[in-house]
Amino acid sequence: MMSLKKNIVALRQKKAIVEKGGGEKAIEKQLAMGKLPARERILALLDTDSFHEYDLFVEHEERNFGMDQKKLAGDGVITGTGTINGAPVCIYAQDFTVMGGSLGLKHARKITKIMDHALKMKMPCIGINDSGGARIQEGIGALAGYGEIFYRNTLASGVIPQISVILGPCAGGAVYSPALTDFVFVVENISKMFITGPNVIETVLGEKISQEDLGGARIHAEITGNAHFYALSEQECFKQIKDLLALIPQNNEEPAPIIKPKEPKFRKNIENIIPSDPKQPYDVRDVIKALADDSHFLEIHELWAANIVVGFGRMNGETVGFVANQPLYLAGVLDCDASDKAARFIRFCDAFNIPIITLEDMPGYLPGVDQEHAGVIRHGAKVLYAYSEATVPKITVILRKAYGGGYIAMNSRHLGADFMFAWPSAEIAVMGPEGAANIIFKKEIEEAEDKDAMRQIKVQEYIDKFANPYVAASKGFIDAVIEPSETRGLLLHALSVSRKKYDYRPAKKHGIPPF
Ligand code: HXC
Repeated sequence: MMSLKKNIVALRQKKAIVEKGGGEKAIEKQLAMGKLPARERILALLDTDSFHEYDLFVEHEERNFGMDQKKLAGDGVITGTGTINGAPVCIYAQDFTVMGGSLGLKHARKITKIMDHALKMKMPCIGINDSGGARIQEGIGALAGYGEIFYRNTLASGVIPQISVILGPCAGGAVYSPALTDFVFVVENISKMFITGPNVIETVLGEKISQEDLGGARIHAEITGNAHFYALSEQECFKQIKDLLALIPQNNEEPAPIIKPKEPKFRKNIENIIPSDPKQPYDVRDVIKALADDSHFLEIHELWAANIVVGFGRMNGETVGFVANQPLYLAGVLDCDASDKAARFIRFCDAFNIPIITLEDMPGYLPGVDQEHAGVIRHGAKVLYAYSEATVPKITVILRKAYGGGYIAMNSRHLGADFMFAWPSAEIAVMGPEGAANIIFKKEIEEAEDKDAMRQIKVQEYIDKFANPYVAASKGFIDAVIEPSETRGLLLHALSVSRKKYDYRPAKKHGIPPF
């Protein structure tokens, strides 16, 4: 019989072998690609000394294609628990040095086991993806594994935050787990996501394209919207994850971490942010910074659909979600992508009990053949659905333009806003004054000797009558017309009196949003 001491030595030796992953050569190759090895990634992301690994000795059971001769360390994935900012998380990281991080059934079952744990214990689940996709030798076992992961992604959706970090290839069906999670992080030169790789594209379509151009970090952060956060290095990416987790709850039953409130430190006077000429753009993030605690704002989807800004900040130490039209891009219109971006963010906030503050300045939905054919009706409806469905406290401040469908869509009273404030610069009308005057005063303008002068008179008449907040206020659609300098104080008050909000919704299995 071996003594316990000898057993411990044997255990350490066994662990050391597995912890080497795919071996020195493969690790060197990983490092040469500018990528950290999987275990180091976990250690860099989690609080020091907090990681505990499970299922280190899990082995695959595949016997075909010479697999019976292959020992795969940890079956190519590392799983465990630890803490970030002192709060517990579940985590897995695919190890590309072990058979390209490819996913077989046991590899998948390690992942689903840690996902089940995260859901049962109500903590965030973080997946670091670095894999060649379904392990080709395992065939159907690998496909089954993916299905079991997707099923859990869906069950966990809205219960615990799910985070995907793409730190290598994420190819084939593998892309759909990240796509089902709440936040996807990518890193320049390292992340690659695509359903069909360049080799297959060349064979089938005869087109030559690099992995980077097909689905590199920038493509997903800027064009497809698949990625919510973009970083230049793995270290920057880990910092972004920590910042995000500091702002969101552990699950849908707990509040987000509350910290000591700090006054905004943004120095520009809030009254000077919006230019006096209503046609001049400005950066709405300045308004957010003038309102949020410590002027801290964590923007999500920063590079995609920039005509709308979404992200988290704090008010009086508690997390809120900001949704704001961005006049710097496309005058802040709602188009297909901006609608998808806003709707998804609103639904995250609602699922995790985060109040929503909407800042509105936009001329409406984007007109034109491109948008109509791209489905702006279907996509735009998502914003209406998400705001109407949300039962968290919902507050809107109309800063400037609130025209047409945009007025309704951006959390209007009519979609259930709890508080509606408008600055005196607000223009709330069915459409912009020029367009409106051209239609309703068409006859007068056409018959006038000086058409331009008459148009100007009629535009001004329309502005005087409707392009202000007082008509809406007279109907009770706006609760208060406020000075910009009063905004933070009123928002803090509105949030403080909304803590126990209960909003009736008819019983149903679930709604059918315009996905
Ligand atoms: C088995 C794999 C593998 C896979 C890579 N490897 N992908 N083994 N199954 N899917 C192995 C390689 O054979 C190699 O083993 C090692 O991992 C490293 O791979 P390399 O090709 O040398 O690395 P690199 O040049 O960096 O290229 C990485 C890659 C490429 C771009 C990811 O490996 C690749 O294209 N793989 C296939 C990607 C793909 O089409 N996946 C889709 C699978 S089908 P050795 O022993 O030489 O070190 C799918 C459908 C699932 O996912 C649907 C679910 C719904």
